[in-house]
Amino acid sequence: MSPGAHGTGGVSLFSTTTHMERLPYYQVLHVFSVLVLTAQTFLAFGNPDPANRKRTLMITGIAALLVIGSGFGMLALTKIPFVKGWVLVKFFCWLGLAALAGIAYRRPHLRGGLSLIALVLLLTAVTMVFFRPF
Ligand code: HEM
Repeated sequence: MSPGAHGTGGVSLFSTTTHMERLPYYQVLHVFSVLVLTAQTFLAFGNPDPANRKRTLMITGIAALLVIGSGFGMLALTKIPFVKGWVLVKFFCWLGLAALAGIAYRRPHLRGGLSLIALVLLLTAVTMVFFRPF
């Protein structure tokens, strides 16, 4: 096996960049998509006007796909298994967050509770990634 073939730090004849050097691109995409998903979800809470529903659900849908795509990309780069406590918890936070804008349009009277749920999901996801408790 040539040095650097698996991107663990060496420089091979054919490649001067390592796998890990791609990580910050995924991180920026991941965090930016989380910001867009959050901003659009809270816009829906603030103004659940059915006239905006289609556009908001399109943007939150695309942002949610980018969050999960970049998340799996980082798992592959860092060789962290998907079936791991903190990753699975983040996955359920992602599922919940991705669903909230749609619920806000159908049940606008629940917006107060939904926004609290959104904050708890975000706090849980961020705590999981920075502490990785299990
Ligand atoms: C509500 C959903 C989510 C939020 C708010 C969130 C937020 C974050 C934040 C703030 C970071 C730190 C950025 C960094 O230091 O790299 C991060 C990193 C990460 N996220 Fe997420 N994330 C979410 C969902 C997911 C999902 C569903 C996955 C996997 C399928 C995932 C996988 C990862 C991984 C592997 C990292 C660490 C990359 C590294 O080693 O630096 N995230 N996430």
